[in-house]
Amino acid sequence: MNRTRAWCAHEPRRSAWVPGLSVPSRSLEPVQELHDAPLAPLTTFRLGGPATRLVTATTDAEVIDVVREADANGTPLLLIGGGSNLVIGDKGFAGTALVIATKGFELDGTTLELAAGEVWTDAVARTVEAGLAGVECLAGIPGSAGATPIQNVGAYGQEVSSTITEVIAYDRHAGETVVVPNADCAFSYRRSRFKADPDRYVVLRVRFRLEDADGLSAPIKYAETARALGVEPGDRVPLTAARETVLKLRTGKGMVLDPEDHDTWSAGSFFTNPILTDQQFTAFHARVREHLGDGVEPPAYPAGEGHTKTSAAWLIDKAGFTKGYGTGPARISTKHTLALTNRGGATTEDLLGLAREVVAGVREAFGITLVNEPVTVGVSL
Ligand code: EPU
Repeated sequence: MNRTRAWCAHEPRRSAWVPGLSVPSRSLEPVQELHDAPLAPLTTFRLGGPATRLVTATTDAEVIDVVREADANGTPLLLIGGGSNLVIGDKGFAGTALVIATKGFELDGTTLELAAGEVWTDAVARTVEAGLAGVECLAGIPGSAGATPIQNVGAYGQEVSSTITEVIAYDRHAGETVVVPNADCAFSYRRSRFKADPDRYVVLRVRFRLEDADGLSAPIKYAETARALGVEPGDRVPLTAARETVLKLRTGKGMVLDPEDHDTWSAGSFFTNPILTDQQFTAFHARVREHLGDGVEPPAYPAGEGHTKTSAAWLIDKAGFTKGYGTGPARISTKHTLALTNRGGATTEDLLGLAREVVAGVREAFGITLVNEPVTVGVSL
């Protein structure tokens, strides 16, 4: 057997010491620690009960120490980055919640290394300022840099899988820091090996290869963005124009966080867009005609050989859950049907009640079962 090939295909490269990183074996200062601490303020939904213990780590070494200690003691561990993709149950979390608050933005030519705790949208702004293309259409996405490879964050025609070169993570099974090259990350639509194996990896750093296109963006792929910019798909535009246009589009859909605006107290898209086989799509099409009459075409985007992606937002809308739906403290956003929101004073059960109602309604109308995008903690749909 070719050992190297088999090893590369299944296991990331192991390394106790990562080139370009200085990770001391133990942190020098004790990490900040609280007990019976509320988690709701750490999430964009502002939902969830307390954690038995809440620790904030500001260096990779602290992160590793806390994870190692929890694993050694068999204590349940909850990792929190920007809190923008988390639905925490009202009972909270019995265990150690670890806030990854590491900092690091290192640009060397077109190579960027971000610490997991960096605020993603700020990092995007800095790459645009530096005149580099590749992530400008991912502006305004809430959350931390370390979360981006986990669900292969994407929007407006860009996905981080196109620019990430490697992910540096702590492997809890091996008890070591590993470097996972892009080819071994198993990236696909909103998925990766990190998401598939959620209790194994703690992302510490993410490395990107950006492009110096003389102040221009990467080719604009998304039709809506191209339209808003007044260009054809495939054209390049000034980086700042791309970033600002995306921010404007996102804001119009309530997808840019604003602490004052309850319409943005959400986790962005609450459901992933369903990917259907040709056979499933034909059955779905028949249901659409039955439910909405002839001549109504559901959104359909190519999603690889024999597969079509349709729109969760459209399904929700057409199943009768229109913008602003709901009368309680958890409602559908007034700007986009895919965002469920906490209007203030909601509980996680209120939110889940709404989510379950939407799933059941869409299933009844179209025979498709929507899948939640945010991670649930101590609860399920
Ligand atoms: N639509 C409706 N009602 C609405 C909104 C949209 O019917 O209220 C329909 C329209 O037909 C529209 C279609 O849904 O053409 C698609 O809507 P949109 O272009 O807003 O994109 P999306 O598929 O709903 C995805 C990502 C977003 C990302 C946008 C832009 C997923 C689950 N969501 O949304 O990502 O910002 O495309 O690229 O893939 C996120 O993941 O949190 C997120 C915000």
